[in-house]
Amino acid sequence: MHFFHVSLLLCAAILSPLLAFAQGDARAGFVKSDDERCQECHGPDGNGDMGDGVGNVGKFPKLAGQRIEYLLKQLRDFRSGARDNDQMAVMAKSVAESDLLDIAAYFSSLPVMHGDGDHKDARQQKIRTLYAQGDPSRNLLPCQSCHGEAGKGGADPNVPIIGGQHIRYLQKQLLEWRAAARKNSPGDVMSQAAAALTDEEISAFSDYLSRQ
Ligand code: HEC
Ligand code: HEC
Repeated sequence: MHFFHVSLLLCAAILSPLLAFAQGDARAGFVKSDDERCQECHGPDGNGDMGDGVGNVGKFPKLAGQRIEYLLKQLRDFRSGARDNDQMAVMAKSVAESDLLDIAAYFSSLPVMHGDGDHKDARQQKIRTLYAQGDPSRNLLPCQSCHGEAGKGGADPNVPIIGGQHIRYLQKQLLEWRAAARKNSPGDVMSQAAAALTDEEISAFSDYLSRQ
């Protein structure tokens, strides 16, 4: 028993620095995300509220509490051009890979993004049902099967949290996927999902999700 304990402790001592590296250092990430100017647009609290009053409201996505795997993938996609955005391509290319990990760890460690809407708003019943059940008649999978209840995240860490995100940003992403301007989802899952949606549904999903 005693020996077992000691070897467990040893194991933890050897593994924990490795795990810490793989997960990034959130405290260092706070300083780096300030130095690298990420906070100027995404906010020190990761809620993307910066730029109010100059037409930027809701343009900068919330990163607070976002899955670290997802954040890193997006930064690498901006860098490689797999996701097209001029501002973020410049930003992502200027940061060293090891700093990206710490910065992603910082934003991911913040209290998770949320909206301030009424979760049971009766006017949203129809879009809530589509979100939860999909529509087999047009091969639309339930959003919830990947994004989790109310967009708060499912089992797969590569699928982003979308509940509580800015409405303007959500709408832009869904429109871009439908127009094939954003094409970076694994297995084209989002291209297929967005292709099936009408303008009204895109607006309704963005409204519903932003309130969660
Ligand atoms: C000048 C403003 C600006 C700065 C500075 C900036 N960003 Fe962004 N960022 C944006 C905009 C705008 C988008 C949304 C792009 C789009 O509409 O597709 C974005 C998107 C992102 C996304 C994707 C979020 C998602 O939900 O898919 C991540 C991750 C991100 N930024 C991280 C960073 C990091 C890390 C830094 C610092 C190295 C940074 N940003 C600096 C403006 C900025
Ligand atoms: C089969 C799984 C799956 C289904 C079903 C699905 N999504 Fe997604 N969604 C993803 C993945 C994975 C991503 C991230 C893609 C990437 O890596 O860029 C994503 C990204 C998004 C984003 C962009 C978030 C951001 O921060 O940029 C939005 C918005 C979104 N999905 C909304 C929806 C809606 C609305 C539905 C239902 C109509 C839906 N998704 C159905 C897997 C799915």
